[in-house]
Amino acid sequence: MFVIIKIIALLVSVWLRVSLGAKCPPSPTIAPCSCAQYINQISCWNIKPDVNLTQIFVNLTKALGKNSKQIIYDEFKLIDSELTDIGSDDDSVEDFFAGVAFNKIQITKNRKLKRIHNNVFKSSFNITTSITISENAILANDAPNERQIFDLLNSFEFATEIWLTDNNISTIPEKAFNRSQNSLAWLSFIDNNIVSVGSHAFYSLPALNYILLDGNRIDKISNKAFELSNNVSNYQLLRLFLRDNDLNSDSFESGTFERIHRKLLLDLSKNNITHLKRDVFTPVFRRNGSAIILRHNPLVCDCNFKWLYDRRLLYNSSHHDRHYYVHNIQCNGTKHDGFKMNELTQSHFQHCPHDPTVHCFMSTETDYDYQC
Ligand SMILES: *[C@@H]1O[C@H](CO)[C@@H](O)[C@H](O)[C@H]1NC(C)=O
Ligand SMILES: *[C@@H]1O[C@H](CO)[C@@H](O)[C@H](O)[C@H]1NC(C)=O
Ligand SMILES: *[C@@H]1O[C@H](CO)[C@@H](O)[C@H](O)[C@H]1NC(C)=O
Ligand SMILES: *[C@@H]1O[C@H](CO)[C@@H](O)[C@H](O)[C@H]1NC(C)=O
Ligand SMILES: *[C@@H]1O[C@H](CO)[C@@H](O)[C@H](O)[C@H]1NC(C)=O
Ligand SMILES: *[C@@H]1O[C@H](CO)[C@@H](O)[C@H](O)[C@H]1NC(C)=O
Ligand SMILES: *[C@@H]1O[C@H](CO)[C@@H](O)[C@H](O)[C@H]1NC(C)=O
Ligand SMILES: *[C@@H]1O[C@H](CO)[C@@H](O)[C@H](O)[C@H]1NC(C)=O
Ligand SMILES: *[C@@H]1O[C@H](CO)[C@@H](O)[C@H](O)[C@H]1NC(C)=O
Ligand SMILES: *[C@@H]1O[C@H](CO)[C@@H](O)[C@H](O)[C@H]1NC(C)=O
Repeated sequence: MFVIIKIIALLVSVWLRVSLGAKCPPSPTIAPCSCAQYINQISCWNIKPDVNLTQIFVNLTKALGKNSKQIIYDEFKLIDSELTDIGSDDDSVEDFFAGVAFNKIQITKNRKLKRIHNNVFKSSFNITTSITISENAILANDAPNERQIFDLLNSFEFATEIWLTDNNISTIPEKAFNRSQNSLAWLSFIDNNIVSVGSHAFYSLPALNYILLDGNRIDKISNKAFELSNNVSNYQLLRLFLRDNDLNSDSFESGTFERIHRKLLLDLSKNNITHLKRDVFTPVFRRNGSAIILRHNPLVCDCNFKWLYDRRLLYNSSHHDRHYYVHNIQCNGTKHDGFKMNELTQSHFQHCPHDPTVHCFMSTETDYDYQC
């Protein structure tokens, strides 16, 4: 019975999709782009620089006949084209896609693409939920235009995920996302060439769950880079991935983690970090459930590491079922020093100077909001 209901539900959803989604026009009308009926998608592969995309969409709307309803496709793909620009700054161009909108947008492997102009997707700004702009070797790479791609991405009111990956983008500018996008949960900048994240870059994104910055060249984190507006539940988890960057122990400005106002999962794997400075990282642990992952860093587990041990943030092998908060510790890469991953004991720190604030950590094992 349940199975039959499921099948009916599936059929109804397929029917709704086909009947409510835009129809495909006769294929010559939109050549060299093409339309896939069942997935409700327009894709343009390998198009030459002289192709006029606007003309294609004007033809498309004509072929479908004038209708008061906005034409919305599930997806638009532009792949392997030789275009250098999508759109222009010429305001006289009314609407680049002739009023057609898309739920998802993918712009990939356009090796000559330099710019996507701001109003190109105007008709989609209140429609699109997912945007992928990837592997475009020279996109937004020239200094005066660095900011513009962010202005564009920040215009999609209902976006839930943005993937700006593998494009050789060199910076995330200050206030990159300064208009609020209240549904944006995933933001990925994996494998670019990013060296810096400007102040308040993500400030107006209250729904953020993931900031993915893996595989960049970030070597400095200014204290306001990840500051988020303080009007969301403190208990919502933010996962901040900074794996495989050029971070070291001095890269983080003091105050960075005070300003995040969230429970935080911070993945710092594959960097050049030897210590976690106490004044910088203490605020991370004020919210129970926060954690730091340190896999593949050249950690030096000397007396500078003691505060993590004292504060009971490390794995304790004689109390192995207790929760711990700093993961995947390998002191000097395990091989040389004889310590096993995550295991540091009292004897390791016995020679270290007594820390006068240690009692404050020790006595607050159950009080993670305690400020020393
Ligand atoms: C699109 O419309 C223009 C102008 O009406 C026409 O010249 C062109 O051939 C059309 N393109 C296609 C592929 O139908
Ligand atoms: C592309 O086509 C549109 C619609 O016909 C037209 O307004 C525009 O001038 C064309 N652009 C170029 C560069 O030819
Ligand atoms: C999106 O905005 C356009 C005007 O730009 C409007 O015509 C359309 O109805 C809006 N769609 C939704 C779903 O709000
Ligand atoms: C990426 O951008 C940098 C400048 O930011 C440039 O030096 C480098 O050549 C670019 N790489 C590629 C593959 O275009
Ligand atoms: C966002 O920042 C840009 C650049 O600083 C500025 O031009 C724009 O007006 C700002 N928008 C809002 C809504 O603050
Ligand atoms: C947070 O504040 C911004 C700007 O004031 C507002 O647009 C947004 O709806 C607020 N979010 C929540 C969850 O209150
Ligand atoms: C890592 O940091 C050390 C100094 O602590 C420096 O000598 C070394 O060059 C750095 N390695 C890389 C790959 O940046
Ligand atoms: C580790 O666990 C043992 C056994 O419960 C306990 O005596 C010791 O104080 C713990 N060490 C730390 C630093 O929490
Ligand atoms: C770890 O490496 C540092 C230098 O990189 C060295 O000074 C220290 O003695 C090493 N510690 C251990 C336990 O091997
Ligand atoms: C923190 O969370 C862990 C895992 O959920 C739990 O075991 C521990 O008791 C919590 N500590 C406090 C102080 O709530």
